[in-house]
Amino acid sequence: MAGAAEAGPDGAMIYRDLCAGCHAETRLGGTGPALIPESLGRLKGEKLEAVIGAGRAMTQMPGFADTLSAGDIAAVAAYVAAPLAEAPVWGAAEITATRALNADYKPAAAPVFSADPMNVTLVVETGDHHVSVLDGDTFEVLDRFATPFAVHGGPKFSPDGRHVFIMSRDGWVQKYDLWSLSVVGQVRAGLNSRNIAMSPDGKWLAVANYLPMSLTILSTADLSVAKVVEITGKDGSPSRVAAVYQAPQRNTFVLALKDVPEIWEIATTEDGGPYAEGFVHSSEAGVEEALGVERGLFARRRIAVSAPLDDFFFSPDYRNLIGANREGETGVVVNLDVGREIASLPLPGMPHLGSGISWMRQGRRVMAVPHLNEGSISIIDMEDWSLVKVIHTSGPGFFLRSHAGTPYLWADVFTGEHKGEMHIIDKQSLEVVKVITPAPGKTVAHTEFTKDGSRALVSIWEDDGAVIVFDAATQTELQRLPMRKPSGKYNVWNKISFEDGTSH
Ligand code: HEC
Repeated sequence: MAGAAEAGPDGAMIYRDLCAGCHAETRLGGTGPALIPESLGRLKGEKLEAVIGAGRAMTQMPGFADTLSAGDIAAVAAYVAAPLAEAPVWGAAEITATRALNADYKPAAAPVFSADPMNVTLVVETGDHHVSVLDGDTFEVLDRFATPFAVHGGPKFSPDGRHVFIMSRDGWVQKYDLWSLSVVGQVRAGLNSRNIAMSPDGKWLAVANYLPMSLTILSTADLSVAKVVEITGKDGSPSRVAAVYQAPQRNTFVLALKDVPEIWEIATTEDGGPYAEGFVHSSEAGVEEALGVERGLFARRRIAVSAPLDDFFFSPDYRNLIGANREGETGVVVNLDVGREIASLPLPGMPHLGSGISWMRQGRRVMAVPHLNEGSISIIDMEDWSLVKVIHTSGPGFFLRSHAGTPYLWADVFTGEHKGEMHIIDKQSLEVVKVITPAPGKTVAHTEFTKDGSRALVSIWEDDGAVIVFDAATQTELQRLPMRKPSGKYNVWNKISFEDGTSH
């Protein structure tokens, strides 16, 4: 036929024929991960086509360069990079259907190892999707287990340090028993998720989801669904949950919402609330007259803010939170007792509040926060919210860490030509006392301390990487443990005791 356009390759058809078997017809994942723009993130364009062409060595992901033409690969890449035509439903029934408990799991009456269970440290190895369980005194690997694809956010320990919960980018939550050294089970709480938080009493685990726009609350005992909370702002517009945190003194979860100017608090005990939504006429006991009052377990409180805030740092008493707005120029202090903004802070250069830490200096509590766009760390007085100092470093950093047992703060450089330089900063003088470069040319990031603060564990953030154990006082290297891209390390004691110097 004259003039008929030659049809290009059909990405949807190629997907159905060659990919759906592993990644599912719905693109929501099967043996392979979800292939939707929410989860692919920065894997797009040529980078995405390169993965499809070459596959992933040592995994089930085959390379298609020999079977598909460059045009076919581009078409299927464009297909998986496009948003889903319809928002998938992922409610209590769908979540429950994915719940799988490990039949071989037997709870142990006591730890099956002789190491101090409070000094156990987990290393998340994103290189091959495993977690290593380290003895925090000898650094022997007690166990190494497979996790779901792409662990995201920090694992959360139960308050007694016995169990740990791990979440993946595709919304899988895995429960692991640190005494038995055994996986208990897993459940898919969301389709694309950001992080998890444990209720202060250890009974509930909240999962912050981007897709669908919800918060899933699971029972920690058996991973059953307690509630799926749909997230809609006061004006009715839906929102993704950027992050969820526990507020121990308040017995609540605190939610950062990505798309609406609100912060939510959700009660984690039966005596939660009352939280009034509308106009309160009288809140005297017995004669309450208010609109939309919520009370009891999972009662919800809305706090209005001037713009969406998606990354929080809390004062140790959890009365105040500091949030960053995405323009990344200011921090906003929100008082959770009165439920409104009380101060703003100049924090230019994209503050990474999620890795902020605080400590006592000259009788006052100060906080430190790194910046993602510039080589600086802001030190803020937490009583009057004044800027005490800007400490200059050799490049933008991602993580800060300290411990009550050490006078120093460890700050990494994550990007730029000085990537891999670790700054040792005196917490009292606020001066950089030393810069160490333990693996020249490689990304060196994320510090964690042992329970007593005497050892600092630092990651060489490469597939063929390592965890380096330092003497925290002298910064001399003691040991190097080979690991596959060890992205984060989590000491049981530092996490469950809310150790000063750890971010939460
Ligand atoms: C035999 C099963 C299988 C088939 C068939 C398959 N994949 Fe995969 N795919 C996987 C697995 C498993 C992974 C995870 C690999 C890893 O651990 O990094 C993966 C990973 C990927 C990734 C990287 C995802 C990420 O977030 O890092 C992309 C992109 C991808 N597959 C695209 C495709 C496309 C397109 C097809 C069809 C042309 C396809 N896959 C066919 C199993 C498969």
